[in-house]
Amino acid sequence: MSPKRVLVTGAAGFIGFHTALALKARGDFVIGCDLFNDYYDPNLKKARAELLHQQGIEVQKVDICHPLAIESLLASHEITHVLHLAAQAGVRHSMEHPECYVHSNLNGFIHILEALKRFPGVKLIYASSSSVYGTNSKIPFAETDPTDHPASFYGATKKSNEIAAASYHHIYGIPCTGLRYFTVYGPWGRPDMAYFSFTRAILQGTPIPVYGEGKLERDFTFIDDIVAGTIAAIDLGAPLDIFNLGNCRPQSVSELIQQLEMLLEKKAHIEFQPMPRGDVPITYADISKSQKILNFEPKTTLKEGLSHFIDWYLSHYVSAKTSASLQEQR
Ligand SMILES: NC(=O)c1ccc[n+]([C@@H]2O[C@H](COP(=O)([O-])OP(=O)(O)OC[C@H]3O[C@@H](n4cnc5c(N)ncnc54)[C@H](O)[C@@H]3O)[C@@H](O)[C@H]2O)c1
Repeated sequence: MSPKRVLVTGAAGFIGFHTALALKARGDFVIGCDLFNDYYDPNLKKARAELLHQQGIEVQKVDICHPLAIESLLASHEITHVLHLAAQAGVRHSMEHPECYVHSNLNGFIHILEALKRFPGVKLIYASSSSVYGTNSKIPFAETDPTDHPASFYGATKKSNEIAAASYHHIYGIPCTGLRYFTVYGPWGRPDMAYFSFTRAILQGTPIPVYGEGKLERDFTFIDDIVAGTIAAIDLGAPLDIFNLGNCRPQSVSELIQQLEMLLEKKAHIEFQPMPRGDVPITYADISKSQKILNFEPKTTLKEGLSHFIDWYLSHYVSAKTSASLQEQR
C-alpha cells in the first residue's frame, strides 16, 4: 500500500493526536490543524501538539471555517486524505452554547466539503457520533437504524454532517466515510468526559455528580481500538459509507466508578442527580458491519483501558500540571 498524505483536522484533540501519531508511525505523511480553543484545558492541546511536533507532525493553528487556509493546506501538501475530527464535542455543552456547534460542526463541516470540491479524488473520513442514535430504543444500534430523533443538538449536528456528506458525494463525487464513535477514552483524553473528571474528583476527595442513579450505560471504547478502526476506514476509502466504532460491551456508570475506585484504591464520594435532558439511557454499538468490512475488533476491556489512563494521568498529567502551576507561581 503506498503511503498516504493525510490532513488531520482537530489534530491537537484527543482522537486526532493519537491517530496522527499512528499514521506517522506507519510511514504516512501527516499534517494537522486545530483551533486550540479553550473548551477544555488548552495546555493539554498544546502538549499534544508539542509531542506531535517532536515526531515530525506540524499542527497549524487554523479555524476550519477559514476556507483559504484549508485549501492552502490541501494544495501545498498534496493531500490524499482528510481525516476530519475538528468539532465542538460534548452533549451537555450543546444546550448551553449551541453557537459553538453551529460554528465548528455545521459551518466548519460545510467549509471542509466546499474545499474538497476543488480537490477531486481526495477522500474524506470524518467523525460522526453514537449521539445520532438519540432516543433509539432498539439495541444494539446498527447503522441501518433510524437516526431522525437525536436527543441533543450535538447529535443533530453530527447527523447533519452525514446528510451533507451524502449530498456532496452525490453532486460532486467526494468520497466520504462517517465514523460513529462511541464514548472514546484513554491516555491524553478529554478532561470534560466522565472517566477523566471522576478520576480527578476521586483523587481530590470532591463529590462526583452521578446521573440516573448510575444506571446509565455507555459503550466505553479504548482509544487504541478507535485508532485501528479509523485507520482501516482511511485505507478502505469508501465512496460513501458510515461505520459504528464502539466496544460492543456497554457498562454502567456505576461499574465505571467501581473500576476507578479499585485502580485508584480510593472510594468515590457520589452525589446522585436527576438525568439531564439530552442524555440517553444507553449507547451500544452493533459492530458487525465494521467487523466485516474494516476487520474492526476492539480488544481492550474497560479495566485494561482505565488502567492505561490512570498510569498516564498519575505519571504525566498530574506532574505536568503541578510543574506548570509551580512555574506560574515563580
Ligand atoms: N471522544 C469521544 O468520545 C467522541 C465520541 C463521538 C464522536 N466524537 C467526535 O470525534 C471528534 C474528535 O473528538 P475528540 O474527543 O478528539 O475531541 P477534542 O475536543 O479533543 O478534539 C477536537 C479538536 O477540534 C478542535 N476544533 C474545534 N473547533 C475547531 C475549528 N472550528 N477549527 C479547527 N479546530 C477546531 C478543538 O480545538 C479540539 O482540539 C469530534 O468530531 C467529536 O465530536 C468523539
